[in-house]
Amino acid sequence: MTHSSGRSAKSEISFAVNGEPRTVRAYPMERLLDVLRHQLQLTGAKEGCGEGECGSCAVLMDGMLVNSCLVPVLQAKGSNIVTIEGVAAEGSLHVLQQTFLECGGAQCGICTPGMILASAHLLNQKPEPTIEEIREGLSGNLCRCTGYSQIIEAVAEAARRRTSA
Ligand code: FES
Ligand code: FES
Repeated sequence: MTHSSGRSAKSEISFAVNGEPRTVRAYPMERLLDVLRHQLQLTGAKEGCGEGECGSCAVLMDGMLVNSCLVPVLQAKGSNIVTIEGVAAEGSLHVLQQTFLECGGAQCGICTPGMILASAHLLNQKPEPTIEEIREGLSGNLCRCTGYSQIIEAVAEAARRRTSA
Protein backbone atom coordinates (compact mmCIF):
# COMPACT_ATOMS: atom_id res chain seq x y z
CA MET A 1 0.00 0.00 0.00
CA THR A 2 1.35 3.41 -0.90
CA HIS A 3 0.73 6.20 1.57
CA SER A 4 0.59 9.05 -0.88
CA SER A 5 -2.00 11.15 0.86
CA GLY A 6 -3.01 12.11 4.34
CA ARG A 7 -3.72 15.15 6.35
CA SER A 8 -0.17 16.43 6.50
CA ALA A 9 1.34 18.23 3.55
CA LYS A 10 4.40 17.17 1.65
CA SER A 11 7.65 18.52 2.97
CA GLU A 12 11.30 18.40 2.07
CA ILE A 13 13.18 15.65 3.80
CA SER A 14 16.92 15.24 3.49
CA PHE A 15 19.11 12.25 4.17
CA ALA A 16 22.13 10.54 2.64
CA VAL A 17 21.76 7.53 0.40
CA ASN A 18 24.84 5.50 -0.45
CA GLY A 19 26.99 8.43 0.59
CA GLU A 20 25.19 11.08 -1.46
CA PRO A 21 23.03 13.81 0.05
CA ARG A 22 19.45 13.57 -1.24
CA THR A 23 16.38 15.72 -0.65
CA VAL A 24 12.91 14.48 -1.47
CA ARG A 25 9.46 16.03 -1.30
CA ALA A 26 7.21 13.54 0.39
CA TYR A 27 4.40 13.06 2.84
CA PRO A 28 5.90 12.33 6.25
CA MET A 29 4.20 8.94 6.45
CA GLU A 30 5.20 7.81 2.97
CA ARG A 31 7.13 4.58 3.18
CA LEU A 32 10.88 4.87 2.80
CA LEU A 33 10.61 1.89 0.41
CA ASP A 34 8.40 3.86 -2.00
CA VAL A 35 10.55 6.96 -1.82
CA LEU A 36 13.68 4.96 -2.58
CA ARG A 37 12.09 3.06 -5.44
CA HIS A 38 9.89 5.71 -7.03
CA GLN A 39 11.55 9.02 -6.31
CA LEU A 40 15.18 7.99 -6.20
CA GLN A 41 14.91 5.13 -8.71
CA LEU A 42 16.74 2.80 -6.36
CA THR A 43 14.76 -0.30 -7.18
CA GLY A 44 17.09 -2.81 -5.51
CA ALA A 45 14.96 -2.89 -2.35
CA LYS A 46 12.00 -5.09 -3.20
CA GLU A 47 8.48 -5.21 -1.87
CA GLY A 48 7.55 -8.69 -0.74
CA CYS A 49 5.00 -8.71 2.06
CA GLY A 50 4.72 -4.98 2.73
CA GLU A 51 4.21 -5.87 6.40
CA GLY A 52 7.67 -6.18 7.90
CA GLU A 53 7.73 -9.97 7.68
CA CYS A 54 9.98 -10.90 4.75
CA GLY A 55 13.03 -8.62 4.73
CA SER A 56 13.09 -8.14 0.95
CA CYS A 57 12.89 -4.36 1.44
CA ALA A 58 15.73 -4.25 3.99
CA VAL A 59 18.19 -1.36 3.95
CA LEU A 60 20.73 -0.10 6.45
CA MET A 61 19.82 3.10 8.25
CA ASP A 62 22.61 4.51 10.40
CA GLY A 63 24.08 1.01 10.42
CA MET A 64 20.87 -0.67 11.61
CA LEU A 65 19.04 -3.17 9.45
CA VAL A 66 15.50 -1.89 8.88
CA ASN A 67 12.58 -3.02 6.77
CA SER A 68 11.96 0.03 4.63
CA CYS A 69 8.29 -0.90 4.11
CA LEU A 70 7.77 -0.07 7.78
CA VAL A 71 9.79 3.15 7.96
CA PRO A 72 7.94 6.44 7.43
CA VAL A 73 10.25 8.59 5.35
CA LEU A 74 10.23 11.32 7.99
CA GLN A 75 11.98 8.90 10.31
CA ALA A 76 14.86 8.71 7.84
CA LYS A 77 15.48 12.46 8.06
CA GLY A 78 19.17 13.16 8.63
CA SER A 79 20.15 9.50 8.48
CA ASN A 80 22.66 7.62 6.39
CA ILE A 81 20.98 4.96 4.31
CA VAL A 82 22.72 2.18 2.44
CA THR A 83 20.82 0.22 -0.18
CA ILE A 84 22.00 -2.73 -2.23
CA GLU A 85 23.09 -0.26 -4.90
CA GLY A 86 25.64 1.13 -2.45
CA VAL A 87 27.24 -1.97 -0.94
CA ALA A 88 29.95 -2.52 -3.51
CA ALA A 89 32.83 -0.30 -4.52
CA GLU A 90 32.33 1.01 -8.04
CA GLY A 91 33.15 -1.50 -10.73
CA SER A 92 33.39 -4.54 -8.46
CA LEU A 93 31.11 -6.85 -6.55
CA HIS A 94 30.92 -6.94 -2.76
CA VAL A 95 32.34 -10.22 -1.48
CA LEU A 96 28.81 -11.28 -0.48
CA GLN A 97 27.50 -10.59 -3.98
CA GLN A 98 30.33 -12.74 -5.31
CA THR A 99 29.74 -15.64 -2.94
CA PHE A 100 25.94 -15.51 -3.40
CA LEU A 101 26.58 -15.89 -7.13
CA GLU A 102 29.09 -18.68 -6.72
CA CYS A 103 27.11 -20.65 -4.14
CA GLY A 104 23.72 -20.34 -5.83
CA GLY A 105 22.41 -18.13 -3.04
CA ALA A 106 20.36 -16.08 -5.49
CA GLN A 107 17.67 -17.68 -7.60
CA CYS A 108 14.63 -15.52 -8.40
CA GLY A 109 16.46 -12.64 -6.72
CA ILE A 110 13.54 -11.10 -4.85
CA CYS A 111 15.03 -11.78 -1.44
CA THR A 112 18.64 -11.23 -2.49
CA PRO A 113 19.15 -7.49 -1.87
CA GLY A 114 17.69 -7.82 1.63
CA MET A 115 19.65 -11.02 2.29
CA ILE A 116 22.89 -9.36 1.28
CA LEU A 117 22.26 -6.30 3.43
CA ALA A 118 21.29 -8.50 6.38
CA SER A 119 24.42 -10.59 5.79
CA ALA A 120 26.62 -7.50 5.54
CA HIS A 121 25.12 -6.24 8.78
CA LEU A 122 25.78 -9.61 10.42
CA LEU A 123 29.41 -9.74 9.25
CA ASN A 124 29.97 -6.21 10.53
CA GLN A 125 28.82 -7.33 13.96
CA LYS A 126 30.34 -10.80 13.86
CA PRO A 127 33.15 -11.23 11.35
CA GLU A 128 33.37 -14.97 12.02
CA PRO A 129 29.80 -16.13 12.66
CA THR A 130 28.87 -19.73 13.36
CA ILE A 131 26.29 -21.40 11.13
CA GLU A 132 23.76 -20.91 13.91
CA GLU A 133 24.60 -17.21 14.12
CA ILE A 134 24.19 -16.89 10.35
CA ARG A 135 20.78 -18.58 10.57
CA GLU A 136 19.79 -16.27 13.38
CA GLY A 137 21.17 -13.17 11.62
CA LEU A 138 19.06 -13.95 8.56
CA SER A 139 15.96 -15.07 10.43
CA GLY A 140 14.08 -11.90 9.41
CA ASN A 141 14.65 -12.59 5.72
CA LEU A 142 12.49 -15.10 3.89
CA CYS A 143 13.46 -16.96 0.73
CA ARG A 144 11.02 -19.08 -1.22
CA CYS A 145 13.54 -20.51 -3.65
CA THR A 146 16.80 -21.70 -2.19
CA GLY A 147 15.95 -23.65 0.95
CA TYR A 148 18.48 -21.37 2.66
CA SER A 149 21.47 -23.75 2.64
CA GLN A 150 23.15 -22.06 -0.34
CA ILE A 151 22.59 -18.66 1.28
CA ILE A 152 24.12 -19.80 4.55
CA GLU A 153 27.07 -21.28 2.67
CA ALA A 154 27.50 -18.01 0.75
CA VAL A 155 27.66 -16.01 3.98
CA ALA A 156 30.06 -18.48 5.59
CA GLU A 157 32.30 -18.36 2.52
CA ALA A 158 32.25 -14.55 2.49
CA ALA A 159 33.27 -14.56 6.16
CA ARG A 160 36.16 -16.94 5.38
CA ARG A 161 37.36 -14.75 2.50
CA ARG A 162 37.14 -11.59 4.53
CA THR A 163 39.02 -12.94 7.51
CA SER A 164 41.73 -14.54 5.39
CA ALA A 165 42.17 -11.46 3.16
FE1 FES B 1 9.15 -5.10 3.83
FE2 FES B 1 8.41 -7.64 3.45
S1 FES B 1 8.30 -5.95 2.07
S2 FES B 1 9.43 -6.78 5.17
FE1 FES C 1 13.81 -16.31 -4.72
FE2 FES C 1 15.08 -16.03 -2.42
S1 FES C 1 15.95 -16.39 -4.38
S2 FES C 1 13.00 -15.68 -2.81
